[in-house]
Amino acid sequence: MVRFPEMMRTHTLANMRDHLLALAEIQDHLARGAFDKASDIAEQRLGMSSLSLHGAHDVAKFMPQGMQAAGTAMHRSASQFAIVAKDASVTGDLKGSLAALARVTQTCVACHAAYRIQ
Ligand code: HEC
Repeated sequence: MVRFPEMMRTHTLANMRDHLLALAEIQDHLARGAFDKASDIAEQRLGMSSLSLHGAHDVAKFMPQGMQAAGTAMHRSASQFAIVAKDASVTGDLKGSLAALARVTQTCVACHAAYRIQ
């Protein structure tokens, strides 16, 4: 159980709901073969480029180290997916994109398995 100031808790949960929405949008774009779109959403909403959007710097200081690492793993894996999906816009490699997306989802699951916020 990790204690966050109330504003941070509300803000973090809103971000989380956007993470889930982003995953849904990514899957939808992959299903349509819109790899470029899937890549952009992943990078901007979940990837390393999303850190300032999420105010990650402000929130991170309330997180134990393991939780910070889990967050970083998520941002990294999303940026990796973004690269794989960009490549797939040329190669059409859906399987590779799905595998990279599964690695992103696994990072969500890993953090949720370990931490709650109060
Ligand atoms: C660094 C840790 C961490 C990562 C990574 C993470 N989450 Fe969360 N998430 C949490 C915590 C903590 C909660 C609050 C759980 C609780 O207290 O019951 C949460 C809650 C949520 C909620 C519920 C929001 C609400 O309104 O109650 C959703 C949806 C969610 N996460 C989606 C995701 C998705 C999708 C990903 C991956 C793309 C993800 N999260 C990655 C830590 C994380």
